[in-house]
Amino acid sequence: MNLNFASDNTGPVSEPIMQAILAANHGGAMPYGADPAAARVREALRGLFRWPEAEVLLVATGTGANALALSGLVQPWETVFCHRIAHIEEDECGAPEFYTGGAKLTLVEGAGGKMTPGTLAEAMAPVGTKGVHGVQRGALSVTNVTEAGTVYTLDEISALTAMARDAGMACHLDGARFANACAALGCSAAELAAGFDVVSFGGTKNGCMAVEAIVLRDGAQGPEMGFRRKRAAQLWSKHRYLSAQMEAYLAEDLWLANARAANAASARLAEELRALGAEMVGQPQANMIFCRMDRAAHDRALAEAQYYVMDAADRPLCRLVCDPSKTAAEVDRLLELLRG
Ligand SMILES: Cc1ncc(COP(=O)(O)O)c(C=O)c1O
Repeated sequence: MNLNFASDNTGPVSEPIMQAILAANHGGAMPYGADPAAARVREALRGLFRWPEAEVLLVATGTGANALALSGLVQPWETVFCHRIAHIEEDECGAPEFYTGGAKLTLVEGAGGKMTPGTLAEAMAPVGTKGVHGVQRGALSVTNVTEAGTVYTLDEISALTAMARDAGMACHLDGARFANACAALGCSAAELAAGFDVVSFGGTKNGCMAVEAIVLRDGAQGPEMGFRRKRAAQLWSKHRYLSAQMEAYLAEDLWLANARAANAASARLAEELRALGAEMVGQPQANMIFCRMDRAAHDRALAEAQYYVMDAADRPLCRLVCDPSKTAAEVDRLLELLRG
């Protein structure tokens, strides 16, 4: 039984994606993104986002997608506004700063992992007031689903991106869990992407093996980003295997079906955890749950299951994440262990 709730990247590759990799594994295909499936993926994402001029670059990691996306948006003397707990701040080992040639990240506060127009305004106010002595406003980076498991509504996003745009900044979406956000909001991909210039469109956490798409609204940036991807050692020579994954992920809306499955498993788990007396930390809105439970419950569960316990309090905080493969039986078993 797969009792690994540590992350959505602990899950297996979805069967149609594995089949697509196997199907791609015959004969020859041109390397470095010149495979025919890469062009089909670009067309599919143009259609999905309703960005007819978009350019698409496939990479193998989410960190690569974010760091490269930002490198095309800001100058080294500019700053990227992001939430204090954004993945680009906390979990990418300085890759965004490295790939942007040293651009700064300016951290924005906000409950539940979400920036608000008020906290963004507060963070923006001093930036750009010191002439040559201070960094300049460069870009806004929003994560949806957030790192706290919450989901920005479309209105919340458009308020933030409008502010950024008014200040002359570009907007990036860290969509490592783009599909889960769409499923949670019941909106289209185009609606979620609206307002952004570049989207890191995640696949790996939602049933792919290793593929993320950098989707550039303005395709004219494609050639420059192509050089950046190569310099970043993120241009796969056997690119057809990236394309095959993304093509299968987009076909018949597998991306959305997978996200709905992961979100549904998580919603059920959250409901049962509440009934068990777990105290939710923030509102789980997609496929990630943060909650506090008695240490004894964790001890019982962790003898068989895996997930992250994040502090040493009497009722330790834990993070539980459902990937698309999670079955009702797996969720039941975890609950059984927690109940004791
Ligand atoms: C919100 C978010 N963005 C980006 C990433 C980066 O993905 P990777 O681990 O593939 O670099 C993650 C992975 O945990 C994530 O949670």
